[in-house]
Amino acid sequence: MPGLDNERHWSPVAMTAATLSAPSTTLTGRAALVTGAASGIGRATAELLAARGAAVLVADLDETNGAAAVDAITSAGGRAVFHRTDVTDEVQVDAMVRETLRAFGRLDIAVNNAGTPGTYAPLPDQTLSDWQRTVEVNLTSTFLCLRAEIPVMLETGGGNIVNVASAAGLIGFANLPAYVASKHGVVGLTKSVALEYARQGIRVNVVCPGSVRTPMLAGFVGGDEAALEHMGRMAPQGRLAEPTEIAAAIAWLCSDEASYVTGHALAVDGGVLAT
Ligand SMILES: NC(=O)c1ccc[n+]([C@@H]2O[C@H](COP(=O)([O-])OP(=O)(O)OC[C@H]3O[C@@H](n4cnc5c(N)ncnc54)[C@H](O)[C@@H]3O)[C@@H](O)[C@H]2O)c1
Repeated sequence: MPGLDNERHWSPVAMTAATLSAPSTTLTGRAALVTGAASGIGRATAELLAARGAAVLVADLDETNGAAAVDAITSAGGRAVFHRTDVTDEVQVDAMVRETLRAFGRLDIAVNNAGTPGTYAPLPDQTLSDWQRTVEVNLTSTFLCLRAEIPVMLETGGGNIVNVASAAGLIGFANLPAYVASKHGVVGLTKSVALEYARQGIRVNVVCPGSVRTPMLAGFVGGDEAALEHMGRMAPQGRLAEPTEIAAAIAWLCSDEASYVTGHALAVDGGVLAT
């Protein structure tokens, strides 16, 4: 289904009275990919980008839930396709970007979201393979995605990239050394790449969520609802975030309303970073 509108929606917008009153959160005519889009934050993001008018490639390892995400988007009148992708595999990441071009003819928005919490244990009890796997899924995958996405965006004059790190990409958490280190890496990578492409029409930002009610967090506490509620109460706002609240921040960064925002790490954490 190639042939989306070729207008360069992401061009820096002069804030005239006319543009200030325009609905600049719209993503109509843009093509997006979202990794880890079969579940949680990624799925909420794919659904919101589609609701705002973007055609969305849903990339994930999980084919069943990926197909369900596509169904939800198309049932709501949006446009989406699923592409099975392991974001740790460079061949599959390159194929994911090629599939976006095949399906939609362009790539304007990329949300590099897939991740894993890794093993919760003190550092001496962490195995090398746990460490390597966590860094691979969270950080190396972001490098592979950026490397595949940027040249394609440059060909059409620019684009928007949002990586998903964590509040643990900005502050430490005991017993999650690989997760915290890899998410700090995603923040640093985002800032460096944002500087490389700031004059070439590509904005690169990173969203750093606090604790969000998703299957990942539920799995992290072994499905213990009381433990989830406790995590929510630890946040200054006194509750967990919903995936849609993280998706809203990502969609804003992808929109023209964020036209002068790049290299920014946006905490969406109910106040955790303020403590
Ligand atoms: N849930 C939270 O509290 C929280 C907090 C901070 C940051 N985050 C980050 O948000 C992102 C999304 O997390 P979530 O909570 O929505 O998790 P989730 O488990 O609900 O969804 C993650 C998705 O990523 C997919 N995935 C995992 N490894 C993959 C791989 N190698 N290739 C392709 N897809 C893969 C999974 O199949 C799943 O569909 C992660 O990067 C996570 O670290 C989550």
